[in-house]
Formats: sequence, C-alpha cells, structure tokens
Amino acid sequence: MHLKRPLVIALFSAGLLYGCGGDDAPTVDQQAATLLVKMTLDEKIQLVHGAGYGVSPIGGAGIVKGIPRLGIPDITSADSAGGVNVEGVNATPYPAPIALAASWDPALAHDYGASIATELRALGFVEGLGGGVNLAREPRNGRTFEYMGEDPVLAGNLLAQRSLGTQSQKVIATVKHFAANDQETNRYTSNSVVDERTLRELHLLPFEIGLKDGGAGNVMCSYNLLNGVKACENSYLLTDVLKNEWGFKGIVQSDWFFAVTDTVRAANAGLDEEEAGGADDYTAATLGSFSLPVTYFNQKLKAAVQAGTVPLARLDDMVLRKLRTLYASGVMASPPTAGGTINQTAGNALAQKVAEQSMVLLKNAVASGDTASVLPLSASAAQSIVVIGGHADAGVISGGGSGAVPARDGNAVTCLVPGSGLFSSCAVWYKSAPLAAIRALAPNATITYLDGSNASAAAAAAAAADVAIVFATQWQTEGADLPNLSLPNNAADPANQAYDQNALISAVAAAAKRSVVVLETGTAVTMPWLANVNAVVEAWYPGVQGGPAIANVLFGAVNPSGKLPLTFPQSESDLLQASISATDLTVNYSEGLKMGYRWYDAQNITPLFPFGHGLSYTSFSYSGISTTANSDGTVTVAFSLKNSGARAGAEVAQVYAGLPTAAGEPPKRLVAWQKVQLAAGESKAVSITVKPERLTIWDATNHRWQTLAGSYTFFVGGSSRDTQSQSLARSLAS
Ligand code: BGC
Repeated sequence: MHLKRPLVIALFSAGLLYGCGGDDAPTVDQQAATLLVKMTLDEKIQLVHGAGYGVSPIGGAGIVKGIPRLGIPDITSADSAGGVNVEGVNATPYPAPIALAASWDPALAHDYGASIATELRALGFVEGLGGGVNLAREPRNGRTFEYMGEDPVLAGNLLAQRSLGTQSQKVIATVKHFAANDQETNRYTSNSVVDERTLRELHLLPFEIGLKDGGAGNVMCSYNLLNGVKACENSYLLTDVLKNEWGFKGIVQSDWFFAVTDTVRAANAGLDEEEAGGADDYTAATLGSFSLPVTYFNQKLKAAVQAGTVPLARLDDMVLRKLRTLYASGVMASPPTAGGTINQTAGNALAQKVAEQSMVLLKNAVASGDTASVLPLSASAAQSIVVIGGHADAGVISGGGSGAVPARDGNAVTCLVPGSGLFSSCAVWYKSAPLAAIRALAPNATITYLDGSNASAAAAAAAAADVAIVFATQWQTEGADLPNLSLPNNAADPANQAYDQNALISAVAAAAKRSVVVLETGTAVTMPWLANVNAVVEAWYPGVQGGPAIANVLFGAVNPSGKLPLTFPQSESDLLQASISATDLTVNYSEGLKMGYRWYDAQNITPLFPFGHGLSYTSFSYSGISTTANSDGTVTVAFSLKNSGARAGAEVAQVYAGLPTAAGEPPKRLVAWQKVQLAAGESKAVSITVKPERLTIWDATNHRWQTLAGSYTFFVGGSSRDTQSQSLARSLAS
C-alpha cells in the first residue's frame, strides 16, 4: 500500500487545479477539514460511493447521498456530453463534442460548457459528466462523436475552456475517460498497452492540459486496463501522475460498471468515489436484462478501513477531496434545486451557432460548364433543387449511449429494427428538417424531396434538377465500435438505414448537373464517390438546430470555417491498426507517437482529407512568416493573413512545429492556432504564441518533460497539409 501524499500535505496544498485561483483555496481546504472532523465513519463511507444506478429522484446517471445534518447536499450527476441526457426535461440537444472540436473555437467551448451547465443546474444536478477527451486513435471507436478529435493540444485546450464554462455555473465539471480508453470492443476488459512516452505526449496530454488550464473538479477513470492494471485501480495513473505530478485536488470517480474489481486495490491506487455504487456491496442489482456488477466502496470499504488494509487517512483524503470540491464549486453554499425550466431559446441559439461554426466544407468544385464553385447556392435563383435521403425531410441524426441527448418532442424518424439491451440501436433524430430550412431560404426555387430508397429514381430526379443535395448519415453509439468507415447501408445498420447510401450517392453524382453531399456523421467516413461529386459538407451531429444551420451553410448565409479535428482516411487499410480485434484483449499502441495525422505524415500516406482541413467561400493567403523566441522558450509566430476573396470569413490559422531530428518525433505537431475573422480583401498581422511546453518531449528515462536544443521548423497554414503554408526554421536552446 502506498499513500503517496500524506494527509498533512493534502490539507495545505492550494487548489491549483480548481480554476478558482490560489487565493481562496486554503479556505476551501480549511472548510473541508473542519467538516471532516465532524463526520462518523459511516458518513464518510456514504460520501465516497454512489447509491446505485437509476435511484436518483431527479434521474440522471448517479447520486451520492448527501448528509443533511452537516449541510452536505445530494451530489447528483447527469451525462452531458452534448447536452443533458435526461428524458422528459426539455434539455437542449447541442451539436456533439466532435462538432465543437471542429469549430476550433475556445470561446465557443466555454459557452458550450456554460450553457449545458446552466441546464444541469436548472434541473438540480451538481455534476455534469461531459468532458470526454480520449483521442481518436481509432476512428471506428463508437464514441468518437463524444470526444474532440485526434490531437491532444486541440482537444485539451477546448476541454479546458469547456470545464471553465461548466464550473462558471456552479456545476462540477468532469473529464473522462482516464485513460487510453479508445475503443468500445471489450470495453470492460481490454488492456491498452502504451509506452510511457506515447502515453505522456499523446494520450494523457489532453487530460493534463484540460485539467491544468480548466480545473475540472472530477476525473472519471475508465473501464479498460492500462498496461495490465484496471485504470480505476492504477496507482501510476491516479496517484503518481494525476494527483502527485499534476497536483489534482479533485475527485477521481470510477466509470459506472465493472471499472472497480477490488476495494483495497482501487482505494489505495487513488480512486475516490465508486459509481454507480449501491446500497449493498454484496448483492448484484439488475437493470432490465443487464446484470449490474457487485460494488466495492460501501460495506467492503468500511471493512477494509476497519481492518487497516485501506488506511483511514486514505478514506479521509477521499472525503476531503469531495468536500473541498463542493466548497470550491460553490455547490456547498448554493446547492441547485430541481424543477427549474430550460431556456430553450437561449439553448437553441447556441446550438445553432455551434453547428454553424463546426461545419467543414470538405470539397467545393466547379461543375462542368460553370464558372463558380457549386456552393454556396444562390438563395434568390429560380432554380430546381432535389433534396435526397438521410431523412432530410424529417430531421437530423445524433449519437447514442450515455452521450445521447433525448429529443424534446419525440423522435423524428421511426426506428426500423428496435433493439434491446443496455444501449438502444435506434438513433434519435431531432425534428429540425434541413428540407424545410432549405425551402425557407430559397423561396424562388422549386424544391422536391426523395427519400433515397430508390437510387434510379433519385438519379433521374437529379438529372432533371439544377442541383442535387444528398444527405447521408452514420450512427454511432457507446457500447459498439463501427465495423468500418463506410457510410452504413441497410445491412450494416438495419435499425437506422433503409438502403445503400454509397450506391445512392454514386448514382446521383453520375446523373446530376451539380451534386452536393451533406454528411451527418460522428467520425470520419470513406467516400468512394468523392471524385464524382462537386461539393461535400461535413455537418457532424448538428443538434437541435441542425436543419437551419445546414441550410445557412449551403446558401452562404454562414461562411463555413470549421476544420477537421481528425484525419479522414482514403480507406481503412490506411489506419494505424488493420482492425479492432474482437478476441484479442490486448490493444497494442505499437504505432507509438505516430497517431492521427502524425501517422499519415510519418508513413507518407495521403489522407482523403487531412487533419485541420476545411474550405471557405472565400480564400486566404499567408505571407511573411517570422518567429521570435523569449528566454523562457516561448515562441511567437507572426505572419500576415489576407482574405483574398470577395466574402467575409474566418480562417483557423494553425501553427505546427517540426522538432529537431534528435527528438525522434513524427514530422510535425500542432502547437497553437488562432481563428481569425477577416472582411473581404482585409489583411491582418497575426501573431500566435507557442507555449514552451508545446515543444517538449517526454524523457522516459528520467520521467520528465525535456526541451531539446536544435533546429525547430514552424509551419503556419490552413491545415496540417496546406501546400500554401509558410514555414521557417529557427534554433532554440534547451
Ligand atoms: C460511460 C460514462 C457515463 C456513465 C454514466 C458509462 O457507461 O462510460 O461515460 O458517464 O456510463 O452514464
């Protein structure tokens, strides 16, 4: 056993990680300590485990019962990846986190966190379980839509802002799933084998950035094993790195089922709360046909403390963390009350803004015989438009599992094969029909709709129209990985698809004068028809205002500025692992640092669309790059950015660094970015600061970050593979 951080240190260390600044932190610790001494052993035990799944009077995922005699409120939690996942409460379905990531907009991430938190609090929740930040190492991972892409710096920075937004509303933010939890296949038993350097430079880094800059009060450890040890029982992860090295002062909470297998191991490794927990550690409950596991942090923990196998000081540390988090978040002084109403107008407005900022214009070509690109469509022209498939007449799709957000007014699309089990196989579609929004924006156009089930009829209609817009959808859910990255057909996803989407698009593309594909997906998809369509818009899971947001982008009311937060491969054979094994529980991260765009760069593989890619209805040009370096290692990259087109637009200017050869790194890494708004014809002098830590590598011998002396190359451009990018080499000292 190892209590690496004695109680006395816990009491005096300031709340560096709480996002409330260091000044009032001693008070928070003092308040927590004062309360702790009043608590009985049973009360302490009560505070470190959930009361069971589905027992909270306000719904949601969990409840740790409060202690009224001490003024400690119930600690209620709800899933909230892209909005509050509680049925029947009218919460706002925002676009999925992968869409937020595609906005590359930290201020928007703050607003997203704050808005969801406002709703959580109105509904009576103390804690939000959003904040998923596992990297898209495996784009077939069923939860890719809940996360923020493949780059640790992009994901970590947006997570920090999201957490700050959440906690600005007196709601405890969660960061999850800690760590290397990158696929759903065998999710309770798979063992992620990751070397130390890869772990630190990639898979732990979004958590490190997110926690240090965002101060979330809650970290949820994951189901999987990391290097042979369950993540929630992993002392390296929870105590050595998270608590001791990063100085995390909040709560480590287990994921919901099967994350804990041993009381003493979990407690002494640094777990502070078991979820969903239960009233009785020895009797397994059931949830429908699903047998819930037995639990470990109720009677079993009490017995372990009494036997001395878990020191009382460790239990006290768990409780102190809980109490200080309740004080620091403002919950103790002002607990939420349930029964508030959701401001749907405000929620819808932000949902639409996020959707519009997240859409990625992947391709926009000039159709044969035309002089201008197909998009944006003219809103005033007396054209004929055929809209095809994807239930565009009814609504937009969303993802499933705990990252789902119920529809306020029923599902827009009837499920074809209702499923059973813990997770439904039926997608939720929000009643925000792109077709209606397109009709509203183009009053002079003749607009028809075909459901896509008959590819020949769709092709014939496309041939007769000026423009054909095909909608294509891909459903993802927690609990299952995708078999591949093809747009699903009726065989791959019988519950949600009635036909072969790729065949439909190919048929329409072959016949149409002008063809546009709108994708509603949670991850990358392959596009065998890409060369034959004129334009492609990636709309992700766009949330409750998806219809108008898509129409605004198609007609140019909004100039798209989203950029891909993950690489789109040409085919699955270009991915870093051939397949997700259903039988081999070992998930070997043998690619090391070559993950995401780093893989494509290092292996010299041309992706379908590179990380960071996204077009605009205007064009941008970069010139005049220069760099300066401070004595502390901060580098400033300056350049001129010009909007060389005829429309206002925003460009996400991305700075990548190539490290000295001796570093042994893939060719480049994202180190900073800035989203710059420019009027038509406008130029701006932009300077972007690169923090010294973004240029470090992990020294696995001495277990520390290290800056190598040598020549660094800085690139600035509109994607990780922008051929117009500017680059400059400069020497930096160690
Ligand atoms: C998921 C978590 C979620 C929890 C509570 C788990 O199965 O992995 O992300 O927060 O359930 O619903």
